[in-house]
Amino acid sequence: MDGIHESSERNVSGKYVVITGATSGIGLAAARELAARGANLGIVARNATKANAVANEIRASAGNRITVDVFIADMSSQRSIRRAANEILAKCPKIDILINNAGAMFVDHKLTEDGIEMTMAVNHIAPFLLTRLLLDRLMLSEHGRVITTSSHGHKMARKGIDFDDLSGKRYFDFFGKLKGGPNFRYGESKLANILFTTELMQRLKGTNVTAYSFDPGLVATNFNRDNGWMARMTATVMMWFARTPEKGAETMVWLADTDSKNLENGRYYVDKHVGTLSAQASNIEAAKKLWETSEEQIRMSQA
Ligand SMILES: NC(=O)c1ccc[n+]([C@@H]2O[C@H](COP(=O)([O-])OP(=O)(O)OC[C@H]3O[C@@H](n4cnc5c(N)ncnc54)[C@H](OP(=O)(O)O)[C@@H]3O)[C@@H](O)[C@H]2O)c1
Repeated sequence: MDGIHESSERNVSGKYVVITGATSGIGLAAARELAARGANLGIVARNATKANAVANEIRASAGNRITVDVFIADMSSQRSIRRAANEILAKCPKIDILINNAGAMFVDHKLTEDGIEMTMAVNHIAPFLLTRLLLDRLMLSEHGRVITTSSHGHKMARKGIDFDDLSGKRYFDFFGKLKGGPNFRYGESKLANILFTTELMQRLKGTNVTAYSFDPGLVATNFNRDNGWMARMTATVMMWFARTPEKGAETMVWLADTDSKNLENGRYYVDKHVGTLSAQASNIEAAKKLWETSEEQIRMSQA
């Protein structure tokens, strides 16, 4: 049996959890489990039909004891994220936990309407912006938490974040590898999740909000299934070795639910333990620089 159902922890009961990427895979499994533990949910999703179906299913299985709200946002659009954040703030007097989980991998070079490369926009700039917009409300919680889904894939960014080419002007090579270098764009975006969490923790010192990132392991989900036949074939083979979404969601649920005394602020977790980081992910200067460049990238879209 998957350990996700074995815990007796219920700290999350009665709390309000905003979660992105809960219409599929790891986020969906986590949303179901958090609701079963008594959490109220704000599901942020791009597809209203899918999100409402998930919300109805979760409400019904929780016996309507909890609230499940749906907010629509395309994580590749800063305008859309800002609109959803305004709706969340209008509706929710209290937010206890924000889970930044929505993610994708784009193997071709493509820019968003804000001029940011797609993989970096959805996987890093979206969590950065949503967190910034909801932070004041999280601070009203007794123990606010920001949890961001990273990946062991952060180790594929062997050269760290390419600050000279944030919008990926150099065209993509094979599977999102940057031409002429060893970095993979997806790896850079998942490295950004860790560096963002490190710097967020620094900036939140002295407040009651803490931040964590985690690696769910290799999980059988819809991830990378819309990137052509080769990606689908690779994903199908990898699924033989992959965990179930419930297993993949265990650390996320634990980070939301466990008592604060079990957690180290700002850390990257793997299977409910502090995980090993690449050298690039331990680079505090890079974390600061990423924060500053991300500020620029969200300011640009407002100009
Ligand atoms: N699967 C793995 O082995 C693995 C390993 C390490 C880390 N991760 C990370 O885990 C997270 C969840 O991925 P998953 O494996 O559960 O994949 P998944 O089944 O494809 O789920 C991805 C979720 O993100 C949402 N999403 C994607 N692009 C979006 C956008 N532009 N706007 C709004 N929502 C968007 C999807 O919405 P739709 O339902 O509308 O598509 C879906 O809810 C990602 O951050 C991924 O990087 C996965």
